[in-house]
Amino acid sequence: MKKLTFSMSLVLIITLTGCTGKMNSDLNNNNIIPRPRSVTSTSDYFSLNKKVIILVPKQDELLKNIGRYLTQELAFFPGTEAMLRTTKSLFPKQTIELIIDSTGTIKDKEAYKLKIDKRKISLSASSAEGIFRGIQSLRQLIILNSREVGSGSLGIPTGEITDYPEFEYRGVMLDVARHFFGMEDIKRYIELVSLYKINVLHLHLSDDQGWRIEIKSWPKLTEVGSLTQVGGGKGGFYSQDEYNEIVKYAADRFITIIPEIDMPGHINAALASYPELNCDNKTTELYTGTRVGFSNLCTVNEITYKFIDDVIAELALMTPGPYIHIGGDESHATALKDYIPFINRVQDIIASHGKTMIGWDEISHAGLKSGSVVQYWGSEENAKRGIAKGAKLILSPASKCYLDMQYDSSSVMGLNWAGYIEVYTAYTWSPVDLFNGLSRENIIGIESPLWTETVETMDNIEYMVFPRLIGHAEIGWSDPEPPDWEEYKNRLGKHSILLDMLDIDFYRSPFVNWE
Ligand code: ACM
Repeated sequence: MKKLTFSMSLVLIITLTGCTGKMNSDLNNNNIIPRPRSVTSTSDYFSLNKKVIILVPKQDELLKNIGRYLTQELAFFPGTEAMLRTTKSLFPKQTIELIIDSTGTIKDKEAYKLKIDKRKISLSASSAEGIFRGIQSLRQLIILNSREVGSGSLGIPTGEITDYPEFEYRGVMLDVARHFFGMEDIKRYIELVSLYKINVLHLHLSDDQGWRIEIKSWPKLTEVGSLTQVGGGKGGFYSQDEYNEIVKYAADRFITIIPEIDMPGHINAALASYPELNCDNKTTELYTGTRVGFSNLCTVNEITYKFIDDVIAELALMTPGPYIHIGGDESHATALKDYIPFINRVQDIIASHGKTMIGWDEISHAGLKSGSVVQYWGSEENAKRGIAKGAKLILSPASKCYLDMQYDSSSVMGLNWAGYIEVYTAYTWSPVDLFNGLSRENIIGIESPLWTETVETMDNIEYMVFPRLIGHAEIGWSDPEPPDWEEYKNRLGKHSILLDMLDIDFYRSPFVNWE
């Protein structure tokens, strides 16, 4: 079944819930996730179901785009007629004004201030990115807090929200190699996570089971290497045009795409496509199982580095963001004496194309350049070695962040090698407390990977991701210290309204008080 859009479902939900809700004139009870940093309430209402002007600066195309996006969201709100304007109305109307504040008082580019008065909402930030993050709070506020405020009118509570992120990097990773997911699914995933202020989508574009990105200089990678997936399904790949469309769709939501080509291991799909990447100069068979650690590039052949240079060159041209991820994990078929010079050389290739390397924590064995980032997933020792070499970390502890882990022993999908991760477990941890010797300045942020050995459809993705990702999003943005599960679980429970509205097939944990 085709999923309802946010706006289509808005009509249904507001009709169902808005008019029956308890009066809430207190902005402090706003239920926004991630929880905003500071909220003050002025105990009145901004009425919504009337004409609402969205006011944006005339010269600012980015803000006009965001204004259009908000107009579309509000257009379906019952009784609300939202209009985009670049000049103030002569007659006062309900207005939502988007403002770039260039006074220097809003320091972080994602920070925003949302001031809600009876007649006017002012959303200000130092950049369009901050405005976009603020709009996500406003979207949640409207859905979760609109209440009947007299004579059939719906309103949201007045007051002021000041908000900014703790971590600059708040990511999700999707493995499109074990199972391939098409354009519609990727766009939907981007749209869903944007509601929770996620700002990075890391795409795991290659593995033993499939190569998923067109590389024009090595066409067999997709002609051969993309043809299957775990379980023997037909696989697939993104053409460069499609990939550029994903990058643009994400950028419109201020989400950066980080492409990953996993090497020197997890590489069978490439080895099956080109014999010269194998030390014995023979192609391997395509692989549809789930074993790890058996494949490797021939690190001692020069052609391997020509291959990597060509692939990275094409990827770099499609990557506006600063990073390219080279995997580097579970390279059990490559001896450490070969692994270290290999990673060093790949790091140089990435730098020669103007990008910065990210790799899973095993890359800390190599000599890390300034700026290179280590993604901690399992080994404290690797992470500490990375820190000692001056690298910053992305935190993806498997026992907290791996969205492919089962919720409990009754889960039918997912794996459990890192343990079961109930919604409670995903929320109740603090980045700096993960291991001794880790401190705030070592961390650029957190990321929630979804490996897809057992995940085959968009519904499967939604079930594994939601609601655990919402807790990770709060840790990354608000850094609750310490996380208060009893408070959070009530706030999360209210989000079933939003999740249902977006037709998200989420896991209804029995430990959450769902609305
Ligand atoms: C990993 O889970 N192999 C990064």
